[in-house]
Amino acid sequence: MSISDILVTGGAGYIGSHLVDALVARDYRVTVLDNLEPQVHRSGTWPSYANPNATYVKGDVRDRSVFEPLVLASQAVVHFGAAVSVGQSMYQIDRYVDVNTRGTALLLDILVNTKHKVEKIIVASSIGVYGEGAYECATHGPVAPTIRDEQQLARRDWEQHCPYCTSHVRSIPTPEDKALYRDNIYSMTKYHQEEMVLLIGKTYGIPSVAPRFFNVYGPRQSLSNPYAGVAAIWLSRLLNGKQPIVFEDGGQLRDFVSIHDVVDCLVLMLEKPGADYLPVNVGSGQTITILEIAKMLARLLGSSIEPQVTQTGRKFDIRHNTADITRAWQTLGFAPKVSLEDGFSELIGWAKTTPDVAVDFFDKALQELQEKGLLVKS
Ligand SMILES: NC(=O)c1ccc[n+]([C@@H]2O[C@H](COP(=O)([O-])OP(=O)(O)OC[C@H]3O[C@@H](n4cnc5c(N)ncnc54)[C@H](O)[C@@H]3O)[C@@H](O)[C@H]2O)c1
Ligand SMILES: [Zn+2]
Repeated sequence: MSISDILVTGGAGYIGSHLVDALVARDYRVTVLDNLEPQVHRSGTWPSYANPNATYVKGDVRDRSVFEPLVLASQAVVHFGAAVSVGQSMYQIDRYVDVNTRGTALLLDILVNTKHKVEKIIVASSIGVYGEGAYECATHGPVAPTIRDEQQLARRDWEQHCPYCTSHVRSIPTPEDKALYRDNIYSMTKYHQEEMVLLIGKTYGIPSVAPRFFNVYGPRQSLSNPYAGVAAIWLSRLLNGKQPIVFEDGGQLRDFVSIHDVVDCLVLMLEKPGADYLPVNVGSGQTITILEIAKMLARLLGSSIEPQVTQTGRKFDIRHNTADITRAWQTLGFAPKVSLEDGFSELIGWAKTTPDVAVDFFDKALQELQEKGLLVKS
């Protein structure tokens, strides 16, 4: 048997749509199941970039009557349909668990209780499953501190401490086997999804992979969704003549990976067995502070607007997390190709030429966080 029909849930979204294009170009028959979540698709219609050679079905991943026949017609399922925001998940708990955890439970329930021909499942996991990234103490070696408490943030003591000797620790790239600490509901649901898929995959012999995406950026990223990633939020602010808001001191380290590299990695996961039954970091392997990101975006945009560094924290934020991508290289031969400068230039070029793409709703999101008491006063 080989894979010819692929179902992509959430395939109208940002990462899914790029994957759909790549799969169609490789002659797979692709079906998309997507409910056109209004927070992502404000027009309520299929996006203009929908691929004319894919089939689009409007429906919810929690609805068995639509999901089951599509699963049964496929040899591979890429499960990306999800509610996607850390901050929002902390006050829309029921919705996040329902869409993400129960949607995945339904997929697995279908697979286990029907005669299907699925040979590969890919489920979108996230950097969020780690909580804090990996660290090293000069005295105690590798350590895994958990989320900073409110008192520490209020003191503006941003860096993590060693759990044993309390000295400050140094951020190192996070390998997949680092201890996991979810510190928000979204990340918990991502972990539910990954753990359930890998368990059922292993139990029933359905090869399954859980890519743990780091900060994915590129065209079609929702710039108007204030709950999306920082690069999109800041670009949207800059395009609207407003300062990017940078929490803490801006020294947080992250790994920004181009959507094109992500798609290459996903195709390898589909076509090669090397990463079967594993969670796999998908990042660039490059490290950068978020303040540098805000400045680079302004520079590439030709804007003189400086970021506003708040020197205040949010209760659910981690300090550093960057990707160790050794596993993706060793199991799949994955090697990222797009530099940050090139990738951000592409993102900006797209944002500038796409009408209405960057309506800035960030202030509203910030107000919501304030009202829910998720900002730390210092
Ligand atoms: N973008 C990132 O940096 C990043 C990082 C880590 C993990 N992820 C994960 O990758 C996947 C794709 O993320 P994205 O950035 O493309 O997000 P996105 O919001 O652009 O795409 C998600 C898609 O899922 C659809 N959807 C939402 N709820 C649904 C439901 N109940 N039924 C059917 N479809 C539904 C939305 O309409 C949207 O088209 C998600 O599972 C997300 O958790 C993304
Ligand atoms: Zn120590």
